[in-house]
Amino acid sequence: MKLVLLIPLGLLAFARGDFVKYDDYTVYKAIPENENQLATLKSLQHDITFQLDFWTEPKKVGIPVDIMVPPERKEYVQDTFERHQIKYDVMIENVQSRIDEEKLSNEQSKLSTEDFNWSKYHTLEEINNWLMLLTKTYPDKVTLVNGGSSYEGRKILGVKVSFRPGNENKTVWIDSLIHAREWIAGATSTFILNQLLTSTNSTIRSTAESHDWYFFPVINPDGYAYTHSNDRMWRKTRTPYGRCFGTDPNRNWDYKWSDGGSTNDPCSDVYAGPKPFSEIETRSLSEYMKGVAKQLELFITFHSYSQLMLIPYGHTTAHLDNYNITYPVGLKAVASLAQKYGTQYSVGDIAEIIYVATGSNMDWLKANYHVPFAYAYELRDQGQYGFLLPTEQIVPTGEETLDSIITILKEADKYID
Ligand SMILES: *[C@@H]1O[C@H](CO)[C@@H](O)[C@H](O)[C@H]1NC(C)=O
Ligand SMILES: *[C@@H]1O[C@H](CO)[C@@H](O)[C@H](O)[C@H]1NC(C)=O
Ligand SMILES: *[C@@H]1O[C@H](CO)[C@@H](O)[C@H](O)[C@H]1NC(C)=O
Ligand SMILES: *[C@@H]1O[C@H](CO)[C@@H](O)[C@H](O)[C@H]1NC(C)=O
Ligand SMILES: [Zn+2]
Repeated sequence: MKLVLLIPLGLLAFARGDFVKYDDYTVYKAIPENENQLATLKSLQHDITFQLDFWTEPKKVGIPVDIMVPPERKEYVQDTFERHQIKYDVMIENVQSRIDEEKLSNEQSKLSTEDFNWSKYHTLEEINNWLMLLTKTYPDKVTLVNGGSSYEGRKILGVKVSFRPGNENKTVWIDSLIHAREWIAGATSTFILNQLLTSTNSTIRSTAESHDWYFFPVINPDGYAYTHSNDRMWRKTRTPYGRCFGTDPNRNWDYKWSDGGSTNDPCSDVYAGPKPFSEIETRSLSEYMKGVAKQLELFITFHSYSQLMLIPYGHTTAHLDNYNITYPVGLKAVASLAQKYGTQYSVGDIAEIIYVATGSNMDWLKANYHVPFAYAYELRDQGQYGFLLPTEQIVPTGEETLDSIITILKEADKYID
């Protein structure tokens, strides 16, 4: 009986070949107010028979933790909160109805399959087709590039955008969807790419044209395809490991690998993989990055959610490298991000403001290639919708995020020129 309980949802879905349902799954927002309550939440997270999906991790006292709980565990989890006097709210009553709403909103967007805009979340195929279309629309500016490949044989497609020669030492890298379920991340990177190509705003134009750009909207293509075909809440790659699937591709890079904030359990959502670069996605993309890393002025990777701007590194709270420059620039960036819609972000070292997490693409790049400016964004929101951010928020999220990038580059250019 116990063994049956341990079979993860993903595997059952794979066996049945249908969509994982989250009927009556509830997301609670719990706020630890002292160390004991924080420890209680951490042990709930690590309960091996429960395998609860923590949408955000227990970080520190005072910072809310979002936990998705299946119907049969709700009573136990609520009892646990009450026994330890942990304050909590229901954030999402029924996760499946949110997923259904998102699906409906995607279907109702009235876009024909060849059309691409930011009124919906697009599939991998739609995104890749759009990238290819850009190379035809802007043949002198946009080049299709192949950043690597996936376990299931997909390509990690990207584009290089260059408006004129001479910008090679001012290159910007933007990637997204290393974590499959963080859909707003891919919508934001494609929004920004489109703005750089089409905007008539003079500030956007001059920023676009004075840099070279690499965009890789979906760097975990198998995982992202799987969130559309089988399980909206999938995070990892799809490599089989025993009875479970996938490595967390943002715990798999070869810098401080498995040095905290990941696990050696293939069923866990933060499985670091059997060895550094065990995943073909991270290995092949890292090979590609080596070729451009020395030219990078700015590296950005989009995640969701929590509204944070994170600076290397994830293994230590020490302020290493040029933190004393990137931190004040980050503060300016989030101030400009807040201007349009009032969206508030916090800035800081990964280990300091979220939690120890090792093996990320950003840390690998910063440590090996000393890219002057490197930031990981945790985009909107702060847990109202979590990973299921409504499609109406795609455009505002893209706009405010682009504002922050313009500010970063204005500052960063001072150090490059
Ligand atoms: C996307 O296209 C649809 C159909 O043409 C249109 O109704 C909608 O306003 C567009 N949305 C955006 C954000 O451009
Ligand atoms: C870019 O940097 C390299 C190495 O410092 C240098 O040789 C090259 O001339 C630079 N290119 C431009 C356009 O400044
Ligand atoms: C940052 O720290 C370095 C090394 O400690 C120092 O040389 C530099 O002046 C500092 N820069 C700023 C802007 O504080
Ligand atoms: C142009 O874009 C910048 C950056 O997003 C913004 O601050 C500015 O208000 C825009 N200008 C106009 C005329 O819309
Ligand atoms: Zn993420």
